[in-house]
Amino acid sequence: MRTADAIVAAAAVAIGDRGRFLLVLSGGTTPENAYSLLSQGKRAAAIDWSKVFVFFGDERMVPASDARSNLGMAQRTLLGRIAIPPGQVFPLRTEGRSAAGAAAEYDAELLRFFAADPRHASPGFDLILLGMGEDGHTASLFPHAAALDAQDAWATWSPPGVLPPPVDRVTLTYPAINSARQVLFVVAGEKKAPALRDILEGRANRAIRPAAGVQPIDGTLTWLIDRDAGRLLRACAGIASDPAGVPPLGGFPAKAGTPARNFHKP
Ligand code: 6PG
Repeated sequence: MRTADAIVAAAAVAIGDRGRFLLVLSGGTTPENAYSLLSQGKRAAAIDWSKVFVFFGDERMVPASDARSNLGMAQRTLLGRIAIPPGQVFPLRTEGRSAAGAAAEYDAELLRFFAADPRHASPGFDLILLGMGEDGHTASLFPHAAALDAQDAWATWSPPGVLPPPVDRVTLTYPAINSARQVLFVVAGEKKAPALRDILEGRANRAIRPAAGVQPIDGTLTWLIDRDAGRLLRACAGIASDPAGVPPLGGFPAKAGTPARNFHKP
C-alpha cells in the first residue's frame, strides 16, 4: 500500500467511527511525495478535509519560510492545496521563541485540544506518520538525548542531532506517539538499512536507535520501507529488485522479525 493510500484508508475509518481524523505529519524529505499525491485527484477527493485535524510530529527551530521547515514543506506539498479549515491545522510555532518555549506551548495546546473532547483518550491521534534517520532517530528523538526520557509531557525540545539540519528541535514524546491508534513509519534509501535492521530484528534499544522506542500501547505499527532500506533484513533476503528498477515500498507489522512479502511501488 502506498503511503498516501494508507492515509486515505485511516481517514475513512476515523471519520466513520469518530466523526473526525487526527493526523500527525512527519517532517523530512521522504513523505513529500505522499503528501503531494494526497493533495491531488481521487485521493484528495476521498477525504472530507472539513473533518481532518493536522498536527506535527516535530519541527526544526527555523521560520516557516525556511526551506528546512517541516511546516513549510507540508504547506507546499499538501496543506496549501486542500480545503482544510485553517483552525484545524496545529503547527509547531517557532518564530520568536526558544525551543523550550515552543515545546511548552505545543504541549499546552495538545492538552487543551484533547482535554476539550472526551471522545479521545488523551492524546488519541488516529494516525502518526514517522520517518527515520540513518542513525535510527525518529521525529526529533535523537540517540542518547534527554528527550527520550520525557514521560510527563507530550511535546519537548531537543538540541540538534548529528544529522542536518544543525538546529534545535521540538518533538512529540514517546508517551504522545505510543498512545496513537496507528503509527506508520515510511523509510526509504540504503543508508538507513543498518538502523532498520537493528530495529526490526531487535538488535538495538531506543537509546541507540530511538525509533525502536515506538511501540504503540493499543495501536498498530507498520513500517513502509523500500527495498534499499530493507536490503539487510533477513525478511528481504533473496527478494530481487523490481524489473523497472524502481525500489518499491513494503509493509512490515510491529513485531521484529515478522516477514512481509508484499511490496508495492511508493
Ligand atoms: C525531521 C524529521 C525526521 C525525519 C528523518 C528522516 O524533522 O527531520 O521529522 O525525523 O523523518 O530525519 O528524514 P528524511 O526523510 O529526509 O530522510
